[in-house]
Amino acid sequence: MSRTRPFEIRTEELLARLSDAGQYKTLQMLEGPMGPVVRLRQPDGRTRETLCFCSNNYLGLANEPRVVEAGIEGLRTYGAGTASVRFICGTFAPHEKLERTIAEYMGTESSYTFVSCWTATEALFPTFCEAGDIIISDELNHACIIDAMRLTPAIKKGVKKTVYKHSDMESLRDKLRQAAIDAEVTGQIWVVTDGVFSMEGDIARLPDMRRLCDEFDAMLVVDDSHGHGVMGRTGRGTHEHHGMIGQNGIGHVDCFTGTLGKALGGGAGGFIAGSTTMTELIIQRARPTLFSNALPVTVACSADKAIQIVMDEPDRVTRLKNNVETARGKINAAGFEVIDSPTAICPIIVGETAKAIKMSKRLLEFGVFVIGFGYPVVPEGVARLRIQMSAAHTDAHIEQLVDALKKL
Ligand SMILES: Cc1ncc(COP(=O)(O)O)c(C=O)c1O
Repeated sequence: MSRTRPFEIRTEELLARLSDAGQYKTLQMLEGPMGPVVRLRQPDGRTRETLCFCSNNYLGLANEPRVVEAGIEGLRTYGAGTASVRFICGTFAPHEKLERTIAEYMGTESSYTFVSCWTATEALFPTFCEAGDIIISDELNHACIIDAMRLTPAIKKGVKKTVYKHSDMESLRDKLRQAAIDAEVTGQIWVVTDGVFSMEGDIARLPDMRRLCDEFDAMLVVDDSHGHGVMGRTGRGTHEHHGMIGQNGIGHVDCFTGTLGKALGGGAGGFIAGSTTMTELIIQRARPTLFSNALPVTVACSADKAIQIVMDEPDRVTRLKNNVETARGKINAAGFEVIDSPTAICPIIVGETAKAIKMSKRLLEFGVFVIGFGYPVVPEGVARLRIQMSAAHTDAHIEQLVDALKKL
């Protein structure tokens, strides 16, 4: 085979550079279900029980027997595949049920599901925006928002976009003010933020953002993928944490996106939750649902059960909160500085990417699975170990985590 094609040459060079710099990612192979303890394949092919502090299994529902059983039942009743997009013949009763459950859980009129939150976000902006609109985004928003913003003007000419400084309300106000006097902005202003920021673990200042949005007639969109199941007394999300639960989101949050791949069962899938008008427009016009298959029914059944459990058993959320508080206290006491917040994401900044990866490998040797995040996921120089807590962790698990950190 020829080795002179540009793609192969540059890719081999890139991979060699990553390896030399200690930045090469190695996929860890799990040989059993997701949980507070996972079975990781070792280099010699055997498996080892390892404490998992890097999954998004915030409420321990990924392997909850009722969630698993609901998926199996869905598989038996509806088969393995939808074999169609939603508007042709790919909408099954479990989709309808799940979307009602999500709307009830979120306190919105309506919801619509996709195969991932990434897809939901890429559906939202290019569908909702029209020429003359502007999207204003927090600089630390998730990559799916960044890419959706890049995509939108390619699909809808005349949509503008801009970025404000992270959680800086003066910066946001400036951007809103500029939009209000921009002759090219003749349509809707959209403000978009993560609810819980995935790399910092901090939370959006939603009440301040709402006030600013009201002042400038802007729509507020919140991606709360790390907040659903985690934030607020009953785990509704960052808006509940801020006391902003409201029917249809009106006067509160206009539209949510979220994932079913984290606290809410952990399978896969994403959703948009908002007004019925919004979901109707999605059904009519959103390319990722018009041209791509529905969420697999078995996954929809599991997610529906998971959300029912979250609504019926708020003590899971309480358990998670207690674990977060205990872990944050003990990690800080062990001499590591965790970025402060009430969320289940506990990042320890360590500096260079290679260092974060090395520390993560060392922790693995101690039987603790924590991922080191570096460039390009976060900027170079602020690489971090990102510890994620779950309601399924016990006090003993937290002790073992802290012991391993101390050994570093
Ligand atoms: C804030 C945020 N939004 C969206 C996503 C994407 O979710 P999904 O895996 O459902 O595409 C993630 C996942 O990492 C996330 O952290």
